[in-house]
Amino acid sequence: MNNITIAIDGYSSTGKSTVAKQIAKHLGYVYVDSGAMYRAVTLYAIKNGLISEDDFNKEALVYQLDQIELSFQFNDQLGFAEMYLNGLNVEKEIRTLKVSSFVSKIAEVSKVRQKLVGIQKKIGQDKGVVMDGRDIGTVVFPDAELKIFMTASAEKRAERRYQELKERGDAITYEAVLQNVTERDYIDTHREDSPLVKAEDAIEIDNSDLTLNEQYTKILELVKMTLEGCE
Ligand code: DC
Repeated sequence: MNNITIAIDGYSSTGKSTVAKQIAKHLGYVYVDSGAMYRAVTLYAIKNGLISEDDFNKEALVYQLDQIELSFQFNDQLGFAEMYLNGLNVEKEIRTLKVSSFVSKIAEVSKVRQKLVGIQKKIGQDKGVVMDGRDIGTVVFPDAELKIFMTASAEKRAERRYQELKERGDAITYEAVLQNVTERDYIDTHREDSPLVKAEDAIEIDNSDLTLNEQYTKILELVKMTLEGCE
């Protein structure tokens, strides 16, 4: 059977990565969390004093882009690849609310996008990949055989994210998470370079009222239909 490319885009905290991982595992495909790459660049910017509440030194970040080495390394125990920044596993550090609060600003920078899109295209050049993000079906893999666009209400998404962070032991409030979700929605959909839009040929799934299992079953059905159509 021919390998295909599966692009999963959508708003933050719609559960894209959960279902993308499940599908990749089922098919034996590579899973790539493109958001993790934007988060890793954000972590680099925070650690190097390039971004804070009241300042963002874009020029310095662009100048230092060559010094930012990103890679994914498969973790056998977890069953998916983890994000490494300059040789260090940053999988946990990139998921904090602090990184979330700056990441959309970093993702607006065209030079950052160019670098990351280049890496993403390379990873997916032989197909057999499930990648999730904001511009996968529109910019990274416009020819992907299957494109999914996931949505859910901001409140539902904030609730899910809040539970996740709380379980990790983060001291945060639901209101702060909801504010972050709506701010990121705004920046992600209004930025000049590759804003979050549904690709014309993407299939939209609103999972506000779907369980994880229902969502997985629905997407798996679409995958099967696409694979059959590619035979
Ligand atoms: O999927 P995520 O929430 O981890 O993504 C973090 C941020 O990265 C998101 O707010 C927007 C940005 N992003 C992007 O601009 N393009 C992508 N392909 C993936 C993420």
